[in-house]
Amino acid sequence: MENLKHNEKSMKMVKKSDKVYAGAGQIRYFDICLESAKGAILKDLDGNEYIDLLATASAMNVGHSHPKVLAAMEKQMKTLLHYTPAYFYNPKVEQLAQKLIDVTPGDFEKKVLFGNSGSDANDGMMKFARAYTGRKTIVSFVGAYHGSTYGSMTLSAVSLNMRRKMTPLVSGVEYIPFPNTYDRKENESEKEFVDRYWGYFENALNTYLPVDEIAGVIIEAIQGDGGFLKMPQEYMDRLYKFTRDNNIVFAVDEINQGLGRSGKMWSIEHFGIAPDILTTAKSLASGMPLSAIVGRKEIMDSLEAPGHLFTTSGNPVCCAAALASFDVIEEENLVEKSRKDGEYVRERFEKMQEKYPVIGDVRIYGLNGGVELVKDRKTKEPDSESASKLITYLMQNGVLMITVKGNVLRFQPPLVITRDQLDKALDTIEKGFSELEKGNLELADDKKIGW
Ligand SMILES: Cc1ncc(COP(=O)(O)O)c(C=O)c1O
Repeated sequence: MENLKHNEKSMKMVKKSDKVYAGAGQIRYFDICLESAKGAILKDLDGNEYIDLLATASAMNVGHSHPKVLAAMEKQMKTLLHYTPAYFYNPKVEQLAQKLIDVTPGDFEKKVLFGNSGSDANDGMMKFARAYTGRKTIVSFVGAYHGSTYGSMTLSAVSLNMRRKMTPLVSGVEYIPFPNTYDRKENESEKEFVDRYWGYFENALNTYLPVDEIAGVIIEAIQGDGGFLKMPQEYMDRLYKFTRDNNIVFAVDEINQGLGRSGKMWSIEHFGIAPDILTTAKSLASGMPLSAIVGRKEIMDSLEAPGHLFTTSGNPVCCAAALASFDVIEEENLVEKSRKDGEYVRERFEKMQEKYPVIGDVRIYGLNGGVELVKDRKTKEPDSESASKLITYLMQNGVLMITVKGNVLRFQPPLVITRDQLDKALDTIEKGFSELEKGNLELADDKKIGW
């Protein structure tokens, strides 16, 4: 932080905040205290500005404080701030449910249920899959992040801190290896690679995972916190067919990757598959607390109240924000913009990869993805120190970026980011790689960065 021109106010607030706000809810990167944000630009308490490459964890796809979203919220706030849909109807709930039914894949009857966070939507997914099938086991993937409630944390397998001191978890969840394309061996064809990973799954089915007890399979079509890994089409096809052949619910978590983030409205659309259940949150209501489960009607009818309800779910102000966010996505062509800008960003990172051996892999899908830093391209040994040095340099030079898994740069700006802002951010990243190679970059302090 020393190189930042001004950070006295932020530091003061950080010290005060650390005394009262518990660490379990905060992943430490930099001692920055934000004051305001607009579009893709953040401003801290000391007046420093940053280009936002995180979009508050992919929760601000339409950009910070979009005027259309603010206006819709203000109008709704003045009429009905909240009345729980657990007891009485309100028009915003119906309008948003219908919108979600219309824009999600699947030409079949669907129903929707709202919650407050991505985590509770994934808990609901578990409940519905079990209720509908009458079976118990949910299959999830290593590297998945599905949330922080007991159910969704159990579905996750990405950090020991999501286990330590908190077990026992919810019973009945089994994990299989995610086909991590960066793990493809030299001389291994894509088919051989998929066969190898499908073999891990088959081995599970033959040893500890009875197929007739599986209620549902939950996937991130593109794993986010797991390192921005896109499932190969062939593996996805086999997995989907497996669920059809065995009457298993196929559920997709679109909480991170949905709503235009990956260059499609939903990441599962890259694969031409309509899931039985889709969960969404984060950018749904532009960062306001709202989640949704969208599922086949017969699955969603398999539980009765109060099987999955929350007093503040379906808040009409949040629903108004969500409806306005969908309008913005459509009016500003943000899905197509994400796709096109994403190609540009991928090309620029691939050019950097040619120059800098520290870049092991570039995985960009839409305005979204990861750049994996390694000590050695052959061994693929992660280089978290270089990643931490680089993001520290970026922060000191007006670009806010974080990492996943320690060594993967996380690239998820608001989709409204201008080409000018994008170029500025990418130029700074490129300069950062050059300084890193020359050995000019330092860590900000000796405190741990990231998870
Ligand atoms: C793929 C995915 N699912 C679920 C969640 C949990 O969402 P929330 O933090 O809103 O509970 C996240 C959050 O990062 C996520 O990335």
